[in-house]
Amino acid sequence: MKHACLYAPFFFGLAVWASSAPAASQKECPPELAAESPTVPLSIEQSDINSGELSFDEINDHGELLFLTKFNICDGRGRPETTGGGDKRALPTVSEDGESLDRGQQAKLRTSAPDSDACASCHNDPEPGGAGDFVANVFVLAQTLDPVTLSVSPSRSNSRNTLGMHGAGPIEMLAREMTDDLQSQRAGLPDGIHTLVTKGVHFEIEILGGQVVEAEGIDHDLIVRPFHQAGKVVSIREFTANAMNHHHGMQAEERFDLNPAKGFDPDYDNDGVERELTIGDLTAITIWQAQLSTPARVMPQQKADRFKVRRGKLMFNEIGCTYCHKPEMVLESRDFVEPDPYNPPGTCAGAADGCPDYTFDMTEVGDLPRLEKGPGGTAIVHPYTDLKRHNLCDDPGPDAIRWFCNEQLAQGRPDQGGKPGSEFFLTRKLWDVGNTAPYGHRGDISTITEAVLLHGGEGRASRDAFTTLPTDAQQAIVAFLKTLQVVPQQ
Ligand code: HEC
Ligand code: HEC
Repeated sequence: MKHACLYAPFFFGLAVWASSAPAASQKECPPELAAESPTVPLSIEQSDINSGELSFDEINDHGELLFLTKFNICDGRGRPETTGGGDKRALPTVSEDGESLDRGQQAKLRTSAPDSDACASCHNDPEPGGAGDFVANVFVLAQTLDPVTLSVSPSRSNSRNTLGMHGAGPIEMLAREMTDDLQSQRAGLPDGIHTLVTKGVHFEIEILGGQVVEAEGIDHDLIVRPFHQAGKVVSIREFTANAMNHHHGMQAEERFDLNPAKGFDPDYDNDGVERELTIGDLTAITIWQAQLSTPARVMPQQKADRFKVRRGKLMFNEIGCTYCHKPEMVLESRDFVEPDPYNPPGTCAGAADGCPDYTFDMTEVGDLPRLEKGPGGTAIVHPYTDLKRHNLCDDPGPDAIRWFCNEQLAQGRPDQGGKPGSEFFLTRKLWDVGNTAPYGHRGDISTITEAVLLHGGEGRASRDAFTTLPTDAQQAIVAFLKTLQVVPQQ
């Protein structure tokens, strides 16, 4: 949805907007920058969302603005005293190669970030909210380093390609329903090895002394974390609060100002701006991402090509790709409900009157095309993932770097889900694969076929089956995958 109408008054006079909608915290530039203004001068308050004072469109348009805008210093961009992981930075410090850096943190740094001024600077293909080219890769974990690193070496960070958020609403809700299901199946189970099944996905777990001590493709708490390629983030909101601090140095008050663990410091990064992002702001940008269009199948014009695509879809199933890339999952509810009950502490917390559920029907509201309706109030999702982590590595030799097992830091880091040689990446959603090249977690693969050939480990059998197919059958599979696309808004 476009925000031109609601936000036009920002540029032609604040008073007009202030009288037509409930204004909240207002930001100003410091005296020496009096000729400038913040790009988003007005935040919205959660209480105005709770009371129904703000309509869906007003909340959504504000969320879009927050995603698109290039924040400036008057908004609070930059984090002179805070790492991209959200910790206090040791002061003063120098970089690892001895170069003196102002308080260990430059205003912008490609490696340890802040690396950009807008979410849409990376997430923009084929439209804002979408994926990114290799140039938009993030050096994941470099943001937590203090002092910062100037290196892009794989021994310091994992270079990861930008994922798209189209369909993120249904994905978050699938994960929640799966988690509910797993938690209730797990309750009361005796010690031993059990297989839990939810939405057609199998998770093997081992319980010992009443605790889950081993779990396949999921964390031991049996919470499905559908976001980030290693499956470590519960919700769009949790991700957004991290990304705002990491990439832009914009602190969400629920994570900082209102957080007892941060000492209730209203300016934790000490950049002179308080309430950089209100709880209402975070709700708005979450809702905007959740309502983005759902990826769809865009069929070719020619009948012969359509037959080829249909044949490719059947072959994709026959050679076992659908074991992980699930073509269909059913959502019991069509609603997106914010906030996520499985959020970590400090997410949407501290609001004076709380964060009661904000609900919208994903089949009726939001960008087109929307989530598909199913029978009896259900919805049908075509995510081409199982939201489970897998091990695609069985070639630890010198060629491993060519396979999907090339990350060094992942292995053994509990915060990145890895155990040496073990399952590491969530099955990649393929529902947007047709127009979100390049491919692979690092975005260094230029064709779909190469991506398929790099599947080892649990993916090897289907990959080998692919290689034995005649060329026209391989072409049919690629043609089918290319029909899975994000449909840009006009
Ligand atoms: C410098 C580029 C860059 C910027 C800026 C950026 N992102 Fe991302 N985003 C990424 C990358 C790379 C990933 C994948 C990370 C991974 O797998 O470890 C990602 C993943 C995500 C995801 C998870 C998607 C999924 O399906 O798992 C969300 C949500 C997200 N970003 C939201 C945001 C928001 C909101 C902002 C602005 C506050 C933002 N991003 C800014 C590069 C960026
Ligand atoms: C064992 C589970 C599993 C099976 C089976 C599997 N995949 Fe994957 N697939 C994954 C995972 C995990 C990734 C992410 C790999 C990475 O980026 O490190 C992935 C990534 C991909 C990608 C890259 C997508 C992108 O946007 O970067 C393509 C294309 C793909 N798979 C196609 C296939 C095809 C075709 C088959 C059948 C021949 C198949 N996969 C079988 C788990 C699987």
